[in-house]
Amino acid sequence: MCGIMGYVGTKPAAPRLLEGLSRLEYRGYDSAGIALAGEREVRVFRCAGKVAELADLVAARGMGTETAGIGHTRWATHGPVTEGNAHPHRAGHVTLVHNGIIENYAALEQEMAALGRKPLSQTDTEIAAMVLDAAYGGDPVTAIRRMMEKLEGSYAMAILFDDKPGTLYAVRRGSPLVVSGNEEGTWIASDITPLLAHVRRYFVPEEGQILIATATGTVLVDAAGSVAAPRWLPIDWDDASAQKDGYPHFMLKEIMEQPQALWKTLQPRLGEDGCVSFSGDGIPSAFFRKCRRVIITACGTAMHAGLLGKIAMERMARIPVTVEIASEFRYAGPILDADTLVIVISQSGETADSLAALRLAKEKGARTLSVVNCKGSSIARESQYVLYTHAGPEIAVASTKAFSVQILALYMIADQLALGRGDYGPAQRLAWAQSLRRAEALAARTLRLAPQIKEAARELKDAENLFYIGRGMDSAMASEGSLKLKEISYIHSEAYPAGELKHGAISLVTFRVPVVAIATQESVRVKMLSNIREVRARGARVLLITREGWQPEEGLCCQVMSLPAEEDILAPFSVAVALQLLAYYTAVERGLPVDQPRNLAKSVTVE
Ligand code: AGP
Repeated sequence: MCGIMGYVGTKPAAPRLLEGLSRLEYRGYDSAGIALAGEREVRVFRCAGKVAELADLVAARGMGTETAGIGHTRWATHGPVTEGNAHPHRAGHVTLVHNGIIENYAALEQEMAALGRKPLSQTDTEIAAMVLDAAYGGDPVTAIRRMMEKLEGSYAMAILFDDKPGTLYAVRRGSPLVVSGNEEGTWIASDITPLLAHVRRYFVPEEGQILIATATGTVLVDAAGSVAAPRWLPIDWDDASAQKDGYPHFMLKEIMEQPQALWKTLQPRLGEDGCVSFSGDGIPSAFFRKCRRVIITACGTAMHAGLLGKIAMERMARIPVTVEIASEFRYAGPILDADTLVIVISQSGETADSLAALRLAKEKGARTLSVVNCKGSSIARESQYVLYTHAGPEIAVASTKAFSVQILALYMIADQLALGRGDYGPAQRLAWAQSLRRAEALAARTLRLAPQIKEAARELKDAENLFYIGRGMDSAMASEGSLKLKEISYIHSEAYPAGELKHGAISLVTFRVPVVAIATQESVRVKMLSNIREVRARGARVLLITREGWQPEEGLCCQVMSLPAEEDILAPFSVAVALQLLAYYTAVERGLPVDQPRNLAKSVTVE
């Protein structure tokens, strides 16, 4: 979603802002802009299009020598994708970029109209700029505070004042923003990806704090007007991990990285006795004790990981687990208490719906634990405990390696929840940890099937509609496979629990609607075969994703993909890789922009 950049220092700002924006492209955007603060004027460049087009525009008009500026990639929320709606927005003495949504912008627009101020764009952001300018009397901090008192909604903003050309201001509420600095100056960004090439540490301003940044450093002012100390965090991702490294797409690179990501996530949690331990994460075993039920809440792919976590936790710990879509959870009036554990799963740690669900859970007194990939993100910081996954940066919009490590993290949590059970002793714990060690090899062996999966994708590429079906864990995998295909190949697909199809949706199955049938679960194998026969009888071409050694009868399936899997519960580590590759190659066959599919954003920071 929208990306913010800011730089103030000793070097020309324009190339640094453009380079930073190109590193933020992965978040998803439709227009871009920068503003450069000079002694006499603020120069603004904007375009509806890519950062490369913006760079051409700036180069044509002159990169300039300004050493302070702000930049933005916009993901449209208010008003269409036009140059006029692109950020930065100017009002009077103020120029700003914004990520988030100003919910009361209509009321504020009327208030501004009463002062004779009219916006030029259709954005909520310009209204915020007008509110800030109306409050400005020469003291930026006072004006920003007044603006914040008026704004409702979520925002991260980087701000320039015409008469303070060497100073950058920033503020956030409910939207991400990180800050860092080196001998070249101070950097502000929506996430750490653009900082990786420059610095090894960063901090996140607390909500409500105002950041004042100059070439020599930063000052944080809290709501009471006192200077606050930043909480620095180390950066443990390197710049190379955020590069394509010879792969044609980030998505393929990230799919290929899954074995290492799984091992890096598991290894630090294996104690001396070989069993799962969260002591290195600072999560006491007592946290899981007397937990009567678990609610897992997340969005999209992370929510699908939750569906698999539910099955593992209920099987192992015998406590009820429900999985709630985060955007619904908050409005469903959930019943929560201190014996309820709410687990929030998020790769980015900034998904607004998931963050809102977490805040509600805390407010209602539930225990909270997050499973997060991005260090220091809002969800990680605000939950009671965090279990970090170690997937490294995930740049492609379609989540791949983050999904596999989320499943692994939930499987580890299942171990901790099961500790209270009398019949889950050291032998069972050790056996479980040994099973988890096999996840890495399962993913690696499935990657070797890439050429075969590529062939299968050729069969799917011209389909207009298809079904993904499965039972048990494979039903959750069907949902994930279908989502992956939809988001990057733009082919409509539906995921159905295989046994449910005959209760209605089977009317859509014809010879024109291929079916991806996932059958890796021993416990429901026979039933699943019956469901496959049902769709085959209606003419569907079936691509069967199954386990090595399971061969269906002649003529039942057009293609069979046999994956390594030794036990039902571990099958998702193979199936995930196969379904990701299937979606990837299908999108490549269709010539689509795999890493940045239309309309989508990597980090969804609005509700
Ligand atoms: C997955 O491929 C998606 N792009 C999307 O569903 C994503 O998983 C979802 O938006 C949640 O993001 P998060 O993990 O960063 O919270």
